[in-house]
Amino acid sequence: MDKESGATRIRPMDIGRDMHSVLGTEQASSENTTTKEELLRRLRRCNSAAMVAEQGGGAVGFLFWRGKRIIRAKGFGPKRGIHLISIMVRQEYRKQGIGARMVAELTSKLGHNRTWIEVEVPETNRVALDFFRSQGFVEKQVLQNVLKNGGNAILMHYNIAESDDVKPDIVV
Ligand SMILES: CC(C)(COP(=O)(O)OP(=O)(O)OC[C@H]1O[C@@H](n2cnc3c(N)ncnc32)[C@H](O)[C@@H]1OP(=O)(O)O)[C@@H](O)C(=O)NCCC(=O)NCCS
Repeated sequence: MDKESGATRIRPMDIGRDMHSVLGTEQASSENTTTKEELLRRLRRCNSAAMVAEQGGGAVGFLFWRGKRIIRAKGFGPKRGIHLISIMVRQEYRKQGIGARMVAELTSKLGHNRTWIEVEVPETNRVALDFFRSQGFVEKQVLQNVLKNGGNAILMHYNIAESDDVKPDIVV
């Protein structure tokens, strides 16, 4: 696909209509470690916070996210941001700008109410680390042993406000 063709449409996920394509994308992926049941649970939880990239009438990529709130030290109001739960593009549609379009859709939701996006990337997933760096995310922290296989993840952040570097008190 030509990056500029506009043939890909980013839209909110419709569980009934998109379930089949999303499961197909996840299960066709060699990186997949998610069971169908886990994905269904995640989909139900993310009903209002999931988008798909549609091409030719089917979803070829998806992104799940949820709002997150950090209670800050006394004197600072709560900060809101977005936790990017997962993003995936069907193998044969990768490197065509589709992942970047979904992340751009997510960053467009930021404003004075929500000022950051975070994502945890397995430290061995070089492609995803490069992808998020290319979208303006920066590495914040190594999270030890947080993956199902006991591996480490890199916490990456995208911020539109400098003050977001203030250390949080409580994360909810
Ligand atoms: C990560 C992923 C979503 C990227 O989607 P994509 O549609 O292929 O990405 P894009 O085409 O929008 O790429 C945007 C930029 O990311 C970087 N990038 C993407 N794929 C890359 C690769 N294989 N190697 C190096 N850099 C890459 C490039 O800088 C690229 O810009 P360019 O095309 O101008 O060089 C996709 O590779 C994927 O589904 N991976 C498997 C699932 C996964 O690992 N998800 C992340 C879990 S945290």
